[in-house]
This record gives sequence, structure tokens and C-alpha cells, in this order.
Amino acid sequence: MCGIVGYTGERFASRILLDSLSRLEYRGYDSSGIALLTETNMQVIRARGKLRELSKKLEGEMTDARAGIGHTRWATHGVPSEKNAHPQLDPFGRVAVVHNGIIENWEDLRQQYGQGLFSSDTDTEVLAHMLVGGLDAGLDLVEAVQLILSKARGAYSFLAVDSQQPDRLVGARVGNAGGLVIGISEDESIVASDVSALLPYSQEFIFLESNEIVDIRPSVVEIFSSDGERKIRSPERLSLDPVTAAKGTYKHFMLKEIHEQPETLLNGMRGRYSGTSETIDLSSELNHERFSIENLKEINRCLIVGMGTSMHAAMIGRHYLEQFARIPTEVDNSAEFRYRRPLLDEKTLVISVTQSGETVDTLAAMEEAQRAGCPQITLSNSVGSQTTRLADSTIMLHAGPEIAVASTKTMIASVIALHGLSLFLGKQRGLLQPEVEQEQVHQALLLPAAVSNVLNFTDEIDKLAEKYSASNNFLFLGRGLGYPVALEGALKLKEVSYIHAEGYSAGEMKHGPIALIDDQMPTLAICTQGDVHDKMRSNIQQIRARGGAVIALVSEGDSSMDAIATDTLIVPDIDPILSPIPAVVALQLFSYGIATRRGADVDQPRNLAKTVTVE
Ligand code: F6R
Repeated sequence: MCGIVGYTGERFASRILLDSLSRLEYRGYDSSGIALLTETNMQVIRARGKLRELSKKLEGEMTDARAGIGHTRWATHGVPSEKNAHPQLDPFGRVAVVHNGIIENWEDLRQQYGQGLFSSDTDTEVLAHMLVGGLDAGLDLVEAVQLILSKARGAYSFLAVDSQQPDRLVGARVGNAGGLVIGISEDESIVASDVSALLPYSQEFIFLESNEIVDIRPSVVEIFSSDGERKIRSPERLSLDPVTAAKGTYKHFMLKEIHEQPETLLNGMRGRYSGTSETIDLSSELNHERFSIENLKEINRCLIVGMGTSMHAAMIGRHYLEQFARIPTEVDNSAEFRYRRPLLDEKTLVISVTQSGETVDTLAAMEEAQRAGCPQITLSNSVGSQTTRLADSTIMLHAGPEIAVASTKTMIASVIALHGLSLFLGKQRGLLQPEVEQEQVHQALLLPAAVSNVLNFTDEIDKLAEKYSASNNFLFLGRGLGYPVALEGALKLKEVSYIHAEGYSAGEMKHGPIALIDDQMPTLAICTQGDVHDKMRSNIQQIRARGGAVIALVSEGDSSMDAIATDTLIVPDIDPILSPIPAVVALQLFSYGIATRRGADVDQPRNLAKTVTVE
């Protein structure tokens, strides 16, 4: 969950490190730090709080340094503070380490390999002690890193520098706690936790695999196995656009990303949904051997895994897979899945949904599926991410960079990707009627306009946000496809505004949550689904009878809730199976409106990180 960067070359290291860190701040932002090296000196500067605090401290310092490492932290061991910020040093100040992930046996390692007093509460510091111990015993830097890999358990990656070898960086990755990517350029090397931090500096990248060590000098990058065996690796060329990551005229990235969703949908459908023939085609994206028509006919079960918002997208996708591909489908929270010894075989298609492609629990679930021989597809927004390397096939979300920590456009992109995948699988299995394919493609292509319509209602939604912004508790209820929408509405509200919000299936309401209802507990009821509409009406009446306010989210033209709900939130009337998309967008705007009124930091909510690489 932390972001790590390193640079060695001809240019001013501090500027490049700070700039790269700013692109990684979404991974953690409770403290940050930097170690800078010149021929004769190593200076370490750390600050509590956001990166701007570090920038202030850095002004005018070590401007001649041409190498260094940096870190932006999401605390796991030790409270956010200057002493716990990275880089962490050995007691003599010879080496510095920045680290992401968790060293599980750090306390034992402290006992065994401590080289003196520890000055922080982190699991990282012991790595610096181990490194300096190795160097003092005559090991080379790479050998000292090998020693760490043989002793430190967990999933982690780190970068280190030795002040006595000022143009050299070493790093390693173990397991799936976030990657290390090395950007290659002439006469300089730059390395970071993910590729987004490196875009302005390089277009050629080496992705470090688990149990690999990297030894970096300005014009030489060498990769070794954890046993010290040299590995040959050619850089991959990726052309990505750093400019689209800018906030533009929007006040927050979250608002910008909400407004990008019509385009996100178009990009997600481009090349897959044909408006002229009204057909769907994903054949170029699926591994032909693994997903041949014969193999697809054999699949007798689907399992979609994901966390948080991605899991909510998966819950919507389950309806699509069952309806269009006729495959019994389960959705599992990746973290729960991996620990319940799931029954899997090669006839189970595992689909992972993860915008970052780096979520540690989702990666672990995929590894479990890999062991069982399941064919796997991942839906990811990050080129080259870990899940894309594990899966047999990748469906890219094509949502563009999502900088706000709360997922918005990547959820919508995941939902449309699952819709397309379900139609395509149904077609390949010979179970989708051509007229259903035609109708669904036609309806899906209406979505960008429908979402634009929701965005045109921003003022109305904002008025509702104003009215309810003082409430400290919220209930979100939905049935059928409205249920994951309710879960997502509640999650978005709690993460960006810190309001306590619960998402429930409306049928569950009478089994407990109704006890919460009073005039202080407003409910947002998702009422866009035709087949459960009457049931939602009854739920609303029951809540109103107990003094609770209800905002009914209804389709345009539906006035049936006007008399019973306290307020209505209107979204365009579209095919009910696609209705979660505009409904989720309306709820994103509602949460954003409330959060900004309450003065919350919507782009970087407290305690959260965009990529969750620790358990
Ligand atoms: C909520 C949110 C998180 C993520 C979850 C999974 O707004 O962003 O709940 O959805 O951490 O992340 P990915 O999709 O990267 O696997």
C-alpha cells in the first residue's frame, strides 16, 4: 500500500523522486521521506503528513544528489510519524531502505539480526540492520539482499541504497505485496511501485517478478533470482499517456472521474460492441486455446472474485453471466475465498475484477485458482499489473488513470466489461439468442447518453446532498440488481464522507435493520428494477410508517413513489438489466456532494489507499 521510488542517473534526483512520489500518493499518504546520495554524503529527510510536508522540508537540500530513494507511506507497523516514515536506516546511517508490504517475522528478525538499537516501530527497519550486517560481513549488496530474502517472511518489496556505493540501488520483490517496475532510459534508471509513476521518464519497463532481486546503476540494470542466479529480461515497451492523469478544471479528481464515465463506457465498448451489426466480439482478447468454443462449453461454473467496489461490480456481473451465458455463477470476496478451501476444478472459470490488478487478496485468490487448474480471466485497468500476468486472458477496462482513491469510473468499466463478457460467452456456448445479443448491444450503446443525462442532473442531486448532509447515519436498500447498487452507494458514502452507511438487501430489512429506523436515519431505496418494484414500495411504506425519511432512486417517468417517498432521485429509464450503471453514477454524485459539504478530503480519504497490497 505504500509507494516506493528510486533514481540513479545524471539528473537532480530530488526533483525526480518527488515528482514520481506525487504520482504514487494514492497508495498511501500518512507520511513520506527521501534518501539522497552524493559521492560523499547521504541525507535522509522525512515528514509526517502528505507529500507537500516533505517538499517543504526538502527545499534547497542536497540539490546536487544524483541518486536516491523515496517513499509515501500507508502505516501498517507503527503510527504515522516522522520516526516511522521511510527511509529507515541502520544504526550507523550507512544504508537506507524503503519498503512496501509486511515482514511477518520482523520481531524474530530484530532479535536475531539487530545491529544495535532500533529507532522506529516499523517492520522495515530490521531490513536496514540486516543489510548493513551483510555488508560488514563482506557480502556484496546483492548478496546481502539474498540474505534478507532467505530470512524475511511475508509479501513485500523494497529498495535500498548504500552510502558507500552512491550510484547504485538494489531492490527485491517477494509475493504479491505490490510490484517493482524499472524504467529504462539512456544513462539513467528509475524504479517505482507501479508504472504510473514512471510515465514521464520512460516508455520501456522491466517488471520484477516475485523472488527476484534487481541491481540498478545508471546504465545497467541486472536481475537475479533469490539464489543469485542472473536472469535475462528484455524491457517491455508501453505507450501510456501521463497527461490524462491531470485534474484539469475539476475541483477534485473524483468529480473529474465521475464526469468521464460516458467516455469510459465508450472506451470499454470500443472494438467489442458493434453498433452496425449489433453484435459482440471479445475473441481477440481471450486466449484461444484456453477459451476455445469446446472449452467454453465444458465450463460448468463461474466464480468472480474481487474486493470492495470491484466486488460490487462482480455482483452485478453475476446476474449477466447467469442470464446471458447461462453459467451458474458465484461471487466471492477474494479475502474470504482464499481461506475457506474452495472447491475448484478446471471446469470452473475464475474471473477476477480489480482496477489496480495488484490487490493482494485477489492475487492470492487467483493463485489458489491457478493451483486448481482453473481457466482465468482478469478485468484490470492497469497495463502490466500482477493479475494480468497471472490470468490466462485480460480484459482491459480502458478507463484511463483513476487517481481519486474511491473507485468510480473503474467500477462502471468493470460492469460493462462483465456485460460484454457474459454476452460473448453466451454466444460462444450457443446459448444466447441472436435477438438478445442484438437488443443488449443496442441498449448498452445507449448507456453513454444515459450517464450524460445523470450528469446533467448534477444540480438536482446536489440539492439532495445539501438536504441530507447533516445526517450521520444512512441505510441503502435494494433488491435484485438494486442490491449491489445499494452496497456500492453505502460504501461510497462512508469512504468519502465518513458517514456511517449500511447497504442491505431490502428483503433483509425486516430481519434486523428496521430496528434502526427513526427520523435520524434516512434510507436511500433503489427502485429502478421492474420486477421488484412493488416490493420496494412496501419497504418504503414500512420505513415511512416508522418516521424514517426515504430518498427513492427511480427511473424517469416513474411517479409511483412520489406520494410515499420523502424525496426522489431520478435517473434515465433504460433497460432494467443495465440500470445499475446510471444508478451508481447518481449515487457517486450524491456521496461527492455530501462529502464536499462536510469538508472531507474526497480524493484521499483518511486511512484508505488506492491499491491494497497488504492483508
Ligand atoms: C472503493 C474502492 C475499493 C476497491 C478495492 C479493490 O471505492 O476503491 O473498495 O474497490 O480496494 O481494489 P481493486 O479494484 O484495485 O482490486
